[in-house]
Amino acid sequence: MENYHSHKHFLPFLCFFLLLLTGQQGVEASDHNHNVNVDGDDRDNDLVYSFYPKKLFVFGDSYSDTGNSDKSKPYKCWKYPYGITFPGKPTGRFSDGRIFTDYLAKFVGVKSPLPYQKWREMGGKGALEYGMNFAYGGTGVFETLLGGPNLTTQIDLFQKLIKQSVITTTDLHSSLALITITGNDYSTFQAKNVSSQDYPSFITAMVDQTCLNLKHIRELGVKIIAVANFPPLGCLPRLTTMTSFQHCSETLNELVNFHNNLLQQAVAKLNNEAEDSSPFLILDFYASFMSIFEKKGDPQGGIEFENLLKPCCVGTSSEYSCGSVDQSGLSKYTICDDPKSAFFWDNLHLTQQGWRAVYSALQPTLYQLFESNGVYLSS
Ligand SMILES: *[C@@H]1O[C@H](CO)[C@@H](O)[C@H](O)[C@H]1NC(C)=O
Ligand SMILES: *[C@@H]1O[C@H](CO)[C@@H](O)[C@H](O)[C@H]1NC(C)=O
Repeated sequence: MENYHSHKHFLPFLCFFLLLLTGQQGVEASDHNHNVNVDGDDRDNDLVYSFYPKKLFVFGDSYSDTGNSDKSKPYKCWKYPYGITFPGKPTGRFSDGRIFTDYLAKFVGVKSPLPYQKWREMGGKGALEYGMNFAYGGTGVFETLLGGPNLTTQIDLFQKLIKQSVITTTDLHSSLALITITGNDYSTFQAKNVSSQDYPSFITAMVDQTCLNLKHIRELGVKIIAVANFPPLGCLPRLTTMTSFQHCSETLNELVNFHNNLLQQAVAKLNNEAEDSSPFLILDFYASFMSIFEKKGDPQGGIEFENLLKPCCVGTSSEYSCGSVDQSGLSKYTICDDPKSAFFWDNLHLTQQGWRAVYSALQPTLYQLFESNGVYLSS
């Protein structure tokens, strides 16, 4: 990706970040090795803690929400053309079809877990056979502009169901958790007229809060907790629209890199503190997005994109976005001929094919991460 200097004011403190980053390379590498190196001498340990995952519990934002956001509010995910590829109508997924949650569920050998909201609408009678999805579009670790339950509140709902024995200890002991927190805290923070010097402490606070949340999920009994790192936010169409979807904002991506490095270190520390195993895994969204941009798809998965940065579904002018209609009900957006040809679906979100590519790019490390931590996959 070429450089795009729309965020010049980030530069002074980015230099500071970059200094920090260079100093941290060594630590990173060795922590990573520690993470994936569990099965060498520790066979017994491995056997004790190994399991076939039976349930998936999901927390986070629109990158993993499969239908929790409020239908009565103007969330576009409940409107046409969301869901046109799968299942053919809107389901509350922020995409034309399946999203990462659906692919990860398939990978661990379960069906995509029911959204918490849907389970409530069913009077709490629906099957919890495959776990539950608490993720809610627009949310973050802190309060966000769009509102909705933050990560802490989502985990509180989970805890309540454990207390009520809707979710049992046996369930938890064969469970995985997925957490995606991918940028709503950032946009909320940016909207506060902050200066560049405010970013380091904000990012540190975000990572600290994320770690508290991860620890809490672990304390509740979930065996393996996979947290996605930040995708390259500087490449989201909302930013690249200023260059007609040609160039990512490298300065914003540097900020994200700083964030991801802090997260990686914090997660390594959590794993060191965990006595029995390394329960926390990072899913490298950043690297997989970047690899797809560089290779124009995921050649190994046979996936190729015509449009890397340009979304499939775009508003006809800056005041409209995908799914917008005017007062007389006329559509104010266009959809590309073939959603499979685009990585991005709307200004912020991926197409089903985009998620398939991310999943495909992550797959080799997923096997490594899970199996080295005693998780055996039936699929
Ligand atoms: C999460 O939301 C709850 C309820 O709105 C709020 O009390 C709490 O302070 C929030 N937590 C964080 C870390 O922002
Ligand atoms: C934003 O912050 C700058 C510098 O602190 C200040 O001069 C400006 O008035 C602020 N703008 C708004 C809309 O608050």
